[in-house]
Amino acid sequence: AEPLRIALAGLGTVGIGVIELLETNRSTIERRAGRELQIVAINARDRSRDRGIDLSPYIWVDDMQAMAERGDVDVVLELVGGSDGPALTLARAALDAGKGFVTANKAMIAHHGLALAEQAALRGVPLKFEAAVAGGIPVVKGLREGAAANRIERIYGILNGTCNYILSEMERTGADFGDMLRAAQEKGYAEADPTFDIEGVDAAHKLAILAGIGFGARVDFDHVAATGIGEVRAADITQAESLGYVIRLVGIASLDRSEKRPTLLQRVRPCLVGRGHPLAAVAGPTNAVVAEGNFVGRLLFQGAGAGAGPTASAVVADLIDIARGDSGAPFSVPVEQLEQLAPADPGN
Ligand code: HSE
Repeated sequence: AEPLRIALAGLGTVGIGVIELLETNRSTIERRAGRELQIVAINARDRSRDRGIDLSPYIWVDDMQAMAERGDVDVVLELVGGSDGPALTLARAALDAGKGFVTANKAMIAHHGLALAEQAALRGVPLKFEAAVAGGIPVVKGLREGAAANRIERIYGILNGTCNYILSEMERTGADFGDMLRAAQEKGYAEADPTFDIEGVDAAHKLAILAGIGFGARVDFDHVAATGIGEVRAADITQAESLGYVIRLVGIASLDRSEKRPTLLQRVRPCLVGRGHPLAAVAGPTNAVVAEGNFVGRLLFQGAGAGAGPTASAVVADLIDIARGDSGAPFSVPVEQLEQLAPADPGN
């Protein structure tokens, strides 16, 4: 079979991880995909930077838009980041040119996911973003495919690896917040702008996406109420501990179907989690997502939520899906009309 030809924009932690994964697991991937996955063109902001790997096999393209329109490209892979700007321009250009589109960009999908899914559906091309939520955990596929027959009632979990790393390290070693944040940045878990992590915005992006998939709702980041971990002090952690709890940043999306028009509630905030609860055992940059469906019951997805390897693993899984001919998007279009409550007072 013909190779699946990929244009890659963005050569940061995840971009380099994808190149290394495709190289290391080449034969396994080819067997599963039924054909070769071949990066043809690459682009990044800074061409001169030494990224520690050989980029000479790939064609460097300066203009991202031109890259999306190349005749020798089947799929555009966006690992640039940012909700708008170059990433969004690239997404629109790629779908417009009839290319498949794969991204790890949660901010963009949380803000524009539905519009992009509609554009993809119109063009009959695949749009995939497994890596946008919870790194290596296949929770997008789990909800879209595994739980497809269920009415999902509630989705909740730990959706930010950086915050979970900071909280659990403070708990384990009594470490300082600032030191742990710096460590999370050094390990490649944190966002380019770590306030997105600390203030719960990144978790809110992911929660909005999960709610969009699980409930079939309009992805609506503006209706997620988010409080981050900036106010959590070492003393809070110790006190929680003495009462039998740990503190975790938890995102919760629940659907109240008792009203005439079902109501969706989405919020992210630090929660006291009882030691016996599965989320209490989640430590380090790990994420965990619980989804409750009316036939399947309670599902728990757990694994590495950040970092090059896990995120690249999710990205390449999407590419394999496309190579196999899966042309869907995780969002159902048209969406179910749900009432989305305005962000509540975060103190509530
Ligand atoms: N900054 C994110 C996190 C990366 O810490 O979870 C993965 O989306």
